Amino acid sequence: MKSLNETFKTNNGIEIPCIGFGTWQTPEGPLAVNAVKYAIKAGYRHIDTADIYQNEESVGQGIAQSGIKRSDLFITTKLWNSKRGYESTLKAFDQSLRKLKLEYVDLYLIHWPANKAGWEKINADTWRAFETLYKDGRVRTIGVSNFLAHHIESLLHTAEILPSVDQIEFHPGYMQADTLAFCKAHHMIVEAWSPLGSGRLLENLQLKEIAGRYAVSVAQLCIRWCLQNETLPLPKSVTPQRILENADVFNFTLSDADMQTINGLPYIGGSGLHPDKIDF
Ligand code: A2P
Repeated sequence: MKSLNETFKTNNGIEIPCIGFGTWQTPEGPLAVNAVKYAIKAGYRHIDTADIYQNEESVGQGIAQSGIKRSDLFITTKLWNSKRGYESTLKAFDQSLRKLKLEYVDLYLIHWPANKAGWEKINADTWRAFETLYKDGRVRTIGVSNFLAHHIESLLHTAEILPSVDQIEFHPGYMQADTLAFCKAHHMIVEAWSPLGSGRLLENLQLKEIAGRYAVSVAQLCIRWCLQNETLPLPKSVTPQRILENADVFNFTLSDADMQTINGLPYIGGSGLHPDKIDF
C-alpha cells in the first residue's frame, strides 16, 4: 500500500480505501462532526461508524459538510445486537440511513455474533436481512464483525452471499491468527478495530524501540503493521494532529524481521471482549 487512495477489493468487487477513520467512543455532537470533516479534509475516504456508537447523526453531518461527493466516500455502519433478526434488522438499517442522511451505505456489518441458545438461527435470520438489503441495492457489500471461524462456518450453511469483511479487534499482541487465516482462506477482508489497542500499546517499550528505528510513532507503527499483515486498520482519533499522523504511514516499510517480532509479541492489552463471552 502506497497511499490512502489505495484499496482492498472485496469478494464482490467493491474497493475499500485502505485506512478507515474510526469513530468508536466519539460522542455525538460537534466533536464528531468536526473529526469526520477534518479526516475527510486530510484525505481519508473511508469512515466507520455503528448504531451503538450513537454518533451516526454527527457522522452524517460531517460527511454532508465535507464537500466531497458521496460516491467518492466509503461509509460503514453496523447493526446493534438488540436488533438482530430478519424484520428488526431491516428496520434498524432504515433508522441508521435516516440518521446518517444517506441513500445507501457502502458496508453494513453484523456488529457481534449472537452467542446464546439459538445463536445459529438468529445469525442466519439476520444475515438473510443483510442479503435482502444487498439485493435491493441499499448496501454495496455486506459483512460481519467480531465473528470467529465457527460463527462464519455456521452462517455459510444457509448464506447465499459470502460475507465480504470481518471486522475484528486486531493489534500487536492480539492478532487473532486463526480468524485471520480463516478469513483469508474464505476471501474475506479483515478490518482491524482498535489498531492501537485503544491507545494501550503506545507506551510499550518494545514497540517504542522499533518505531524509533523508523523515526515514526508507535501509532504509525501499529497502523503500518496492520497493512503489512493485509488487514485494514480503523484508527480512531478526534485530535487533528493525530488524524494526520495516522494517515502518514506510506513512506516506510517494516522489515520482515520486525514484522515477525511484532507478530510474536505476547498480549500487551486490549478490550478484553470475547465474542462468545460478552453478555450484551
Ligand atoms: P484521541 O481520539 O483523543 O485522539 P484505537 O484506534 O486503537 O481505538 O485507539 C484510539 C485511542 O488512541 C484514542 O484514545 C485516541 O485518542 C488515541 N490515539 C489515536 N491516534 C493516536 C496517535 N497518533 N497518538 C496517540 N494517541 C492516539
